[in-house]
Amino acid sequence: MKGIFISFEGIDGCGKSTQINLLAKYFAKQKKSFVKTEEPGGTEGANEIRKILLRENNFKWSVETEALLFMAARNDHVEKVIKPAIEDNKVVICDRFMDSTIVYQGMRSPQAKKLSLLLFDQMGINPDITFLIDMDPEIALDRALNRETDEDRFENYGIKFQRQLRKNFLDIAKKHSERIKIIDGNQSLQHVATQIMESIETLIK
Ligand code: TYD
Repeated sequence: MKGIFISFEGIDGCGKSTQINLLAKYFAKQKKSFVKTEEPGGTEGANEIRKILLRENNFKWSVETEALLFMAARNDHVEKVIKPAIEDNKVVICDRFMDSTIVYQGMRSPQAKKLSLLLFDQMGINPDITFLIDMDPEIALDRALNRETDEDRFENYGIKFQRQLRKNFLDIAKKHSERIKIIDGNQSLQHVATQIMESIETLIK
């Protein structure tokens, strides 16, 4: 088994974190070394950028600049964590990756999408498999808003924005159906987890 790069995507509050933790347990049980990481973040430098991006009342960037900041954080993360882990035959489980930029920034600005894709093309990495946890936006937003955080996240943009995010995630999943698996997040936790593990077993074979 060589290194595998797995990413999780979805709207805010879709239940990614729970599924990521279950998947980490699954790899731990199999004694397969893995790295559990997240974006924006995953390195000291990327976490600094995260603070700039998600600090409360700090939406002073244009969408294009915002996208470039997410890309800068990603570059640090790819260089220092993701690529070395894959080269070391580890599994990387990443909470959000490039699809989030295409959706959160790209749907608000075609130029932000274009700039991000140009940079991404040079990074030379793509997940082997991506799980899109698809979820009813009303339930997801309710969950997301109940979390305690001092970050000014996108859930504060309201339900209409969450519905748009969901639509855009589903569109890119259809466009990249060879990589992105849509998982119905309205099912029981265990049901969702089983589907994810089955897809990974198929991928490994
Ligand atoms: P995250 O910590 O994953 O929040 P959550 O637990 O709610 O999923 O991500 C923080 C926010 O950053 C989230 O609202 C999505 C947003 N984001 C972007 O806008 N662009 C990106 O490229 C990434 C990685 C995240």
